[in-house]
Formats: sequence, C-alpha cells, structure tokens
Amino acid sequence: MHLNPTWRATGQAGHRADVLNDERPDMQDAHYGQVASLLHWFIGAALLGQIAFGLLLDEIAPRNTPSRGAVINLHKSFGIALFVLIVLRLAWRLGHRPPPWPASMPYWQRRAARLGHRALYACMLAVPVFGYIASNFSKHGVKLFGLALPPWGADLPGVYAFFNGLHVATAWLLIALIAGHVLVALKHALVDRDAIHRRIWPWASGARAPRRTDPLPPCGEPRWRR
Ligand code: HEM
Repeated sequence: MHLNPTWRATGQAGHRADVLNDERPDMQDAHYGQVASLLHWFIGAALLGQIAFGLLLDEIAPRNTPSRGAVINLHKSFGIALFVLIVLRLAWRLGHRPPPWPASMPYWQRRAARLGHRALYACMLAVPVFGYIASNFSKHGVKLFGLALPPWGADLPGVYAFFNGLHVATAWLLIALIAGHVLVALKHALVDRDAIHRRIWPWASGARAPRRTDPLPPCGEPRWRR
C-alpha cells in the first residue's frame, strides 16, 4: 500500500535528522519504491555475473586463442550496458528519498550504512569507467555488441596497463564491498531480526518513501531527512 507522508507538527525545529526520523512512526516500516527495488536486485545479480565473467576470462578464452577477442568484447559490452543501468539507478536514487532508518538503529550504524552505500555507488561507477578508459589506450578499442567504437586514445601499453590496473583494483574493492553489504544484510535478517532487509524487497508493503517532489512540511515543522 502506498501512503502519502503526513508531517507531524511538533514545533521542535532544529532537531538532528535521526531524531526527526524517529518522530515518524508512520514511516517505521517504509520501504524503497518498486523501481528502486527492481533495479537493486537486477543490477546486483548482473554485477555478480559480470565480476565472475571478468575473473574467468582467461579460462573461457585463454590469451592468444581465436575466441579471445570476441569474449573480451562481450565482457566490455555487458560492462557498458551495466554502467548505463547503474547511472539510471543513481539518477533514480537522487530523485527519490530513501525510507528513514528504523528508530532502533543506532546513529553510528546509520552513518556506516550511508558511507558503505556511497562507496558501493562510487565503485560500481569506477570499475566500468576505468575498464572503458583502459580499452581506449589499446589498439583493440571496444566492439559494443559488434559495433566497432574506434579508440579515442593512442595505442599506449603503459597507459593501458595503468587504467587496467585501476579496473582490476576497483573490481576487487567492489567484491569486498558487496561481501560486506551482504553480510550486514544477513546480520539484520538473522541476528537482529529487524525490518531493515525488508525495505528493499520488491513485494514489501508499508509506507513508501516520499519523492523529492512531494510537498515538504511548512517551515518550523520537522523535515524527514536521512
Ligand atoms: C561493472 C562492470 C564491470 C565489472 C564488474 C568488471 C569486472 C572485471 C573483472 C573482475 C576483471 C578481471 C580482473 C582480473 O584480472 O583479476 C575484468 C577484466 C577486464 N575488463 Fe572488466 N568489468 C566491468 C566492465 C568493463 C568495461 C566497461 C570494460 C571495457 C569497455 C572492461 C574491460 C576489461 C578488460 C579488457 C579486462 C581484461 C584485462 C586483462 O586481463 O587484460 N570491463 N573486468
């Protein structure tokens, strides 16, 4: 069920954002919207597939074998498509307020979660961007699902190696961040047994998070921030 947010007037302007969220009992079971949730699960699964594809490139098509070029280009094409989806997801996230944290969640955990999510977004963007830049400093360039995109950089093995090194390093950082993200979600579901993990389920019910275009409460009333 989608409820429009109702703003409770307490006249206590200037509270910290977390305190204000705790004043929103109507939002304690709030969840992400369906688009955000579907993008989350689809991109999550696609990222795992793309990471596995990258790590198995040498097994699937060993270097200097005829299939190597086609397989690498498939990895590049999937990576660029994934990048477009990640940008879309980030744009959606910036246009829609996430649901507030439940009152039971300590302040340090909220800070840590915000930091972790920002690092995940940064890495999700950095991995394909470094891969793409690297590829443009190689004579092979990129064939996007068969369409040759001529490289805009010169064939410079040193520059290629530098950006490819960043591509690999950020991919490993992304793997670590995803592992941490999953472990924390499992802890919430199995140990804390709170409702955090349900906020991102596509079939979750409860109040939806307000859009940025929803009217804000009049001046002096608490604002819902995260
Ligand atoms: C989110 C998207 C992407 C992910 C998660 C990803 C992940 C990976 C991983 C894990 C590897 C193997 C690293 C290793 O050797 O340990 C790899 C290799 C590679 N990736 Fe990506 N990648 C992505 C997008 C791209 C894009 C967009 C391009 C280029 C347009 C690209 C180009 C390459 C190349 C050329 C290699 C092989 C490097 C080599 O062994 O010479 N990747 N990628």
